[in-house]
Amino acid sequence: MTPQVIAIDGPAGSGKSTVAKALSERLGWSFLDTGAMYRAITAEALDKGIDASDADAIAIIASIANIETIPRVTINGRDVTDQIRTPKINQAVSAVAAIKAVREQMVERQRQFADDQPIGTVVEGRDISTVVFPSATLKVYLDADLSERAKRRGDEDEDELGSRDRADSTREASPLRQAEDATVIDTTNLTVEQVVEAIVKCLK
Ligand code: DC
Repeated sequence: MTPQVIAIDGPAGSGKSTVAKALSERLGWSFLDTGAMYRAITAEALDKGIDASDADAIAIIASIANIETIPRVTINGRDVTDQIRTPKINQAVSAVAAIKAVREQMVERQRQFADDQPIGTVVEGRDISTVVFPSATLKVYLDADLSERAKRRGDEDEDELGSRDRADSTREASPLRQAEDATVIDTTNLTVEQVVEAIVKCLK
């Protein structure tokens, strides 16, 4: 039997990671944070002195990188769990995630990860229900007001978060958008438990 996938997309701070993790624990499924993969490549590139706009060099890094996201985020065996949440990475990651060749590499690995899981995976990102798993068991789009999203992130102010959202939604390669058949949940005034509950109800 093909392992199942719950695909969760949405802008930064919409609650994707927290909800996806809690949902995976509730269901006993695996969890995949695809943003962490793009962030790990960004960390590797910057550490090697490569600019986020150097698409060819970054594509090479992505093609040979060994990336793990659980239990810690590592790239080529180096733990970058804390580093990938720093302002430097926040600012550069959208440019790296816009590189088509990088996306192709990551999409392939994300599909392989899901294929390897015993029951199913809760996968969160920007293009999960539109590109990576268009036949997902369930597609969810989480959103929240910009001010609430900035409050949740803490490390990014509204301007920064807004410009990252714009970059992620207007890029040519697999921009963030709602899948037509996605369940849309506005998480602005909901707790994590309420969002998880709403998603579990959709599964029944
Ligand atoms: O979810 P996050 O903030 O950790 O994601 C970091 C960046 O990676 C985000 O600015 C957009 C990009 N991203 C993407 O383009 N596609 C994904 N599936 C996940 C993240």
